[in-house]
Amino acid sequence: MQDANHHSTSSQSGASQPGHSPRGDAGGLKIAVINGDGIGPEVTAQAIKVLDAVGERFGHKFHYSHGLMGADAIDKTGNPLPDATLELCGQSDAILFGAIGHPKYDNDPTAKVRPEQGLLKLRKSLQLFANIRPVNTYPSLHHLSPLKQDRLEDVDFVIYRELTGGIYFGKKELSADGSEASDLCAYNRSEIERIAHLAFQAAQQRRKKLTLVDKANVLETSRLWRKVVQDVAPSYADVAVDFLFVDNAAMQIIVNPKQFDVMLTENMFGDIISDEASVISGSLGMLPSASVGTHTAMFEPIHGSYPQAAGKDIANPVGSILSAAMLLDYFNLYEEATSVRNAVKWALDSKFVTKDIDPINYYFTSTVGDLISDYVAGRVPNDINQLNVELRKSTLI
Ligand code: IPM
Ligand code: MG
Repeated sequence: MQDANHHSTSSQSGASQPGHSPRGDAGGLKIAVINGDGIGPEVTAQAIKVLDAVGERFGHKFHYSHGLMGADAIDKTGNPLPDATLELCGQSDAILFGAIGHPKYDNDPTAKVRPEQGLLKLRKSLQLFANIRPVNTYPSLHHLSPLKQDRLEDVDFVIYRELTGGIYFGKKELSADGSEASDLCAYNRSEIERIAHLAFQAAQQRRKKLTLVDKANVLETSRLWRKVVQDVAPSYADVAVDFLFVDNAAMQIIVNPKQFDVMLTENMFGDIISDEASVISGSLGMLPSASVGTHTAMFEPIHGSYPQAAGKDIANPVGSILSAAMLLDYFNLYEEATSVRNAVKWALDSKFVTKDIDPINYYFTSTVGDLISDYVAGRVPNDINQLNVELRKSTLI
């Protein structure tokens, strides 16, 4: 659901770790596109429009190939992640992904094949061990945030969520009579070290503060996280480190979100606190993410598949468009990424927004995508205003 499952951006997201170069020149990036389920195809189409506008303005060419995943893939092939998709992703420079999930599986705990298995398998196969979710706010959306205005100014943090370990991937058991179940949470030192290094490096490029979120008063895995982070910290002497129990962190995100810079945490805690943090911005539809690791990196909005909106051209494409900006950052195309973020800011300030942001005077997904990509390409006339685009607006006024 877009309304219940989203994530964010900042030009200092820390998503870009130096040294990622595309196979071929920057203009020849090979992008695997996985539309996925629900609103996935609609929002991804807008991100592609915007990337093409970047190509037009900066002289790059992006090459797209499509692959199946999720409920869509189950319907067409019986498999939530067909081998062909995995192969395509492995051969690409980056993956642009839409959304995953379908209600027909959500309320059926006995379903053996589930759309989400595709995403988890892709993360594991590509060793996408770090999920980067920036959270920031836009003054034009402050009124939509559930938090009071004074808590929103200057909020700018990024969550580094471990993505290929912990309880998500530990041994799962169900007793023969179906009355007992368990999920094992396991981590080893190197799994923690590799994401800790990325998070520390991101902190060095930002405000130089790292908060480890754990439950070290109860869990052995959390005590290992603390130990490893304490061992890594001296290599980043300019970064201040603190530790927060996850229950306290969940509260602090609401009470005083501007205290955070880089939050580092394990898989499950990161899943939960990143959804919590995402609502700060005012709409879950705004927030992007990057998943990076050893192989091809993946970029996706944090929102879910929002099946109620599928095909209606009303979903917010900004999360997907800002994920494309994170993709550009990842390949050190900073000026290009900034042009996308500026275009998004322009669209918000001009009130060219989707229904989640203005339920009365809203624009369609495809119109917002057109406007943002036109702005990136420098095709927007100076006198553009709401009247000029009235016809591409919703008819519900
Ligand atoms: C996310 C999602 C996924 C997760 C689901 C769809 C498996 O909630 O990316 O945060 O739990 O990791
Ligand atoms: Mg989630």
